[in-house]
Amino acid sequence: MKRKCIIAAGLFILATPALAADVSMDHTAMHQQMMDMQHGSAMPVEDSRISLKLPPAMRQNQLAMMREHLKAVDAIVMNIAEGKFDEASNIAHDKLGLTPKMKKMCAMYGNDQFKDLGFAFHDSADELGEVLKTKDIKRSLKALHKTMDKCISCHATFRQ
Ligand code: HEC
Repeated sequence: MKRKCIIAAGLFILATPALAADVSMDHTAMHQQMMDMQHGSAMPVEDSRISLKLPPAMRQNQLAMMREHLKAVDAIVMNIAEGKFDEASNIAHDKLGLTPKMKKMCAMYGNDQFKDLGFAFHDSADELGEVLKTKDIKRSLKALHKTMDKCISCHATFRQ
């Protein structure tokens, strides 16, 4: 019993420098990445997206809505995986589709291009809702991809 403890302690001591080396490598890689970002080789330093100039009172609400969108996409993926296409279709229509609430949300920021992108996104989610009803996995995933492309293009164009 005692011997086992000693062996275990010995192994731990032997393993420690290796662990430390790993951590420092990660740190070096992270540092390099940050340097790359600063020098523009990895990511742009400037945020050149159009600002919606949202007043502070609207910011939290908008972000909370976005997190709901992400949750909806996650739920759709899970329901597709479980073969529950009707549930997935309902989520697409109710949570992401062009409902009166979403119409109002997209229009309230006072930017026409944003509104158009928003409407196109919600329209694509309604299309997704229809495709899901066919219970065809390939077509459904393609439709989901189209909807997610709209998330991506708005995020590339606008910031708060
Ligand atoms: C019409 C424009 C538009 C569309 C479409 C859109 N978003 Fe966003 N989203 C934004 C803006 C603007 C922000 C704020 C970004 C910033 O200021 O950096 C944002 C932020 C977010 C955030 C960050 C939330 C936080 O708490 O920080 C998430 C997550 C997100 N969006 C998910 C999604 C998902 C998922 C979709 C599609 C299913 C989507 N968005 C579609 C405009 C959009």
